[in-house]
Amino acid sequence: MIEHIAIIMDGNGRWATARGLSRSEGHLAGAKQISVVADAARAMGIKSLTLYAFSTENWKRPEPEVTALMSLLKEFATNELPQMMKNNVRLRTIGRTGDLPLASRMALLKAIDLTKNNDGLTINIALSYGGRAEIVDAVNKILKERKSDAPMTEEEFRNYLYLPDMPDPDLMIRTGGNLRISNFLLWQLSYAELYVTETYWPDFGADDLRRAIEAFDGRERRFGGLNEQKDGGAVDK
Ligand code: IPE
Ligand code: IPE
Ligand code: MG
Repeated sequence: MIEHIAIIMDGNGRWATARGLSRSEGHLAGAKQISVVADAARAMGIKSLTLYAFSTENWKRPEPEVTALMSLLKEFATNELPQMMKNNVRLRTIGRTGDLPLASRMALLKAIDLTKNNDGLTINIALSYGGRAEIVDAVNKILKERKSDAPMTEEEFRNYLYLPDMPDPDLMIRTGGNLRISNFLLWQLSYAELYVTETYWPDFGADDLRRAIEAFDGRERRFGGLNEQKDGGAVDK
């Protein structure tokens, strides 16, 4: 069963360049694609989508591109809100969202608040997100809040992550063809199945999502154990 899909929405810039457009126009096309993929995910019975929209490293980009992305974010949160309400979608964010400009943050907070009781698809958008930053933020929270110095378990550590109740992704999709994680969900992806497609994010649609899920369905997840039939696990008793 596949419940949670994480996506590195990459390739907006290359998509735009290939069409003689500006990178920001690529980001606009990419932002529009989110609702297309969210609708497809809902139709396919997916419970959660975690979408990498802006990394802690993306602040290094030229200022006009960062500004364009931040204003797109505000428009996304404002314009998509009625549709999210209609479709019973809950919006949440992960990342150092305090770094975002106030106007984007306000629009996001409004959408998060109004959608918080929706129990259809959950969309977690990763903004100013870094996997290392999340782990370091968790450690700092522990130093500040934890009373005991008893050894920590993985289960307890999870409580200090940005969204403790977020199940680990079953599948991580990266568009745009690069074979790397780029600091996404370092803790949570430990046993996710990986799927990379050359398709740029603004072109990634329902059929591409279906293909990724089909690939996932063909995988055998072992979580470090053995498959009783194939690996002879039953023979050695
Ligand atoms: C992904 O597209 C969106 C963000 C990182 C904000 P890119 O902007 O990285 O597109 P490419 O990889 O340059 O094509
Ligand atoms: C990863 O894409 C981040 C997002 C899609 C938001 P990047 O384009 O930033 O990744 P690198 O730099 O190619 O690793
Ligand atoms: Mg990129």
